[in-house]
Amino acid sequence: MALLEVRDLSVTIGSLQPLDRVTFSVDKGSILGLVGESGSGKSLTAMALMGLLPLMGGRVSQGSVRFDGTELVGLDSERYRALRGRRIALITQNPMTSLDPIQRVGAQIDQVGILHRGLTAADARARSIELLTQLRIPDAATVHGQYPHQMSGGMKQRVVIAMALAGDPELIIADEPTTALDVTIQAQIIQILVDLVRQRGLALLLITHDMSVVAQACDQVLVLYAGRIAESNTVEAIFAQALHPYTQALIACIPRSGQVSGSLRGIAGIVPSVASYAGGCRYHPRCSVAQARCQTEVPATQVHNTHRIACHVATAGAAHG
Ligand SMILES: Nc1ncnc2c1ncn2[C@@H]1O[C@H](COP(=O)(O)OP(=O)(O)OP(=O)(O)O)[C@@H](O)[C@H]1O
Ligand SMILES: [Mg+2]
Repeated sequence: MALLEVRDLSVTIGSLQPLDRVTFSVDKGSILGLVGESGSGKSLTAMALMGLLPLMGGRVSQGSVRFDGTELVGLDSERYRALRGRRIALITQNPMTSLDPIQRVGAQIDQVGILHRGLTAADARARSIELLTQLRIPDAATVHGQYPHQMSGGMKQRVVIAMALAGDPELIIADEPTTALDVTIQAQIIQILVDLVRQRGLALLLITHDMSVVAQACDQVLVLYAGRIAESNTVEAIFAQALHPYTQALIACIPRSGQVSGSLRGIAGIVPSVASYAGGCRYHPRCSVAQARCQTEVPATQVHNTHRIACHVATAGAAHG
């Protein structure tokens, strides 16, 4: 059984609907990559799962989020608070949103163990140092006593991961955990997350706009476009045969080794803003194979084994032509 089961999840903020019937699941010991360009609804999905939409004036307007069999949509804030940090942890893009600049990082990790695991101060400290060591921080005891400003970006991001792990969560939601870091450090941090998932049987929802991160780390991938599923499948199948024109375009944008950054390709055109979502398939203005009905009819999601796709032109489980 999937640890996290999301069905037809829709989010509204005021009169806007930035997320429209998104469905996916994440198993224990497995990594789902949630990809899409800026504004596609990735962070809102994370906020919805964490029960944090009210902070931004949003709410789940439809659908279900089942975590280990419990329905989280409509869960009272008390019970949600008991899950957050303890069974479900969130890692965000900017470590400084999670770290207090005037407190030693060790104390910040210790507090999670004390609060969520009921550890004594001494046990929490020992556990924090153990976690930092597992995150391949040399001389973890020294780092434990440092302030955030004394550390590099990559080091701070590891501290944030240690904070997430200190509650011993079953599910980690990592929202672009490495975008602020340079490429080498990015790959190291992603590898650390992958190793943790495999060793501890965690479930990881890894949010990224980078298909090469998906290729490196994930088991399953869900491609979002303008708040809707474009395509989802196993990573193996997506890279063997992506069928949605948007997925194909994202894969075509992956820089090849040796390519200079100046020659990086992007997808022509821009993601529509949530206030200007029009009818039909939202990708049609940028799509090279769009037909007349793509402008007027919303494509239904076709399901075939592990494959889901919403496209008038492509057929689930089959190649073009
Ligand atoms: N508080 C808000 N009020 C109104 N619209 C919002 C709010 N937060 C996000 N949105 C809109 O919802 C859409 C999805 O936003 P979201 O932050 O989930 O995108 P994202 O996929 O995480 O993008 P990025 O890659 O830039 O982080 C965007 O069009 C955004 O403008
Ligand atoms: Mg985001």
